Amino acid sequence: MFEYETVKKIMFNFEPETAHSIAECGLRTLPYCRFVNSYMINKNFVNHDILTQNILGTTFHNPIGLGAGFDKNATMIKAMPAMGFGYTEIGTMTPKPQAGNEKPRLFRYPEQESIQNAMGFNNKGAYKIIGNLKKVYPYAIPVGASIGKNKITPENKALEDYENLIRGFKDISDYLAINISSPNTPNLRDLQNEEFIKAIFTMAKNITSKPVLLKIAPDMEHETAITLCKTAIEYGADGIIATNTTQDYSLLPNPKDFGGISGAVMSDKSYEMFKAIGAELHDKTVLISVGGISDAKDAYRRIRAGASLIQILSGFIFKGPSMCKNINEELIELIKADGFNHISEAIGADFK
Ligand SMILES: Cc1cc2nc3c(=O)[nH]c(=O)nc-3n(C[C@H](O)[C@H](O)[C@H](O)COP(=O)(O)O)c2cc1C
Repeated sequence: MFEYETVKKIMFNFEPETAHSIAECGLRTLPYCRFVNSYMINKNFVNHDILTQNILGTTFHNPIGLGAGFDKNATMIKAMPAMGFGYTEIGTMTPKPQAGNEKPRLFRYPEQESIQNAMGFNNKGAYKIIGNLKKVYPYAIPVGASIGKNKITPENKALEDYENLIRGFKDISDYLAINISSPNTPNLRDLQNEEFIKAIFTMAKNITSKPVLLKIAPDMEHETAITLCKTAIEYGADGIIATNTTQDYSLLPNPKDFGGISGAVMSDKSYEMFKAIGAELHDKTVLISVGGISDAKDAYRRIRAGASLIQILSGFIFKGPSMCKNINEELIELIKADGFNHISEAIGADFK
């Protein structure tokens, strides 16, 4: 119907946040254009037995999801099947609305198919987003809710922010993702410690039986990450999402000295950390791999390293709505080529 390369050329003339607002406007409108929406669902949404999994208490028709940060206010959920996504993660939401960091705070690196961002959880706040979500949930694809603390909340009150958010979102999402790994809220990553992880999962599990997952940063020793993930699981976490953006500024030419890097340049870094976690935990919990993925080969190496699900954000911006379809169709071939009958047989195959 249209060439994404042409759309991208036009969109990349705009400042990145303006382009995102235009995209949001289009994606909010798409479900109301019923003919175009159905056409795009038929074209892009892969629904195949080999890729269908019943995990986290729900059904994923394909394993490719939209990573948190693109749909911060839950306004684009209905358009995601047309984009080919098998699930979506909204947020990160905070209890109170907040504007985020000073602009400019979003930068493209087209040659590297990478992004640097210092958004800082700009979002409309739980009250408004709960309203948006109630209009949609439950939906045709699973919806995860990524939650984070407000910037102004001191560290010793952080748990209360997460508790309020869990109470607010537990009945209108399929899973909750605890975000303590964004580099753009001061000291947030300090919460990636044993004590806080024990406290947050103990609290969460007292409140809800919905799956609660932990999202971690890539910028720590693999052993440290594994220990934190093991603690999270011991205290009730239902899965791990690895990884958030990286603060390894050596990955980009002319980087900014703030924010987090995502996209192709972080693929190997996020894969190495994911594989280390997968080696220990692939048969003990649900693992979601995210970071620099935009093709089937990369997605499949994550699956073989233990990923039940994949998330993509930056790749979607550079490759557009045909990306998920291409990945899913190729994944089916890769799974078959390895002699497997279902994705579940490929998950963690590197360790069997
Ligand atoms: C502009 C932007 C905003 C993001 N915001 C969030 C967020 O609010 N919460 C979160 O958990 N991750 C956020 N992320 C991180 C992504 O979800 C993902 O973990 C990271 O970008 C690596 O994946 P990618 O290379 O496919 O983009 C954001 C990433 C980008 C590029």
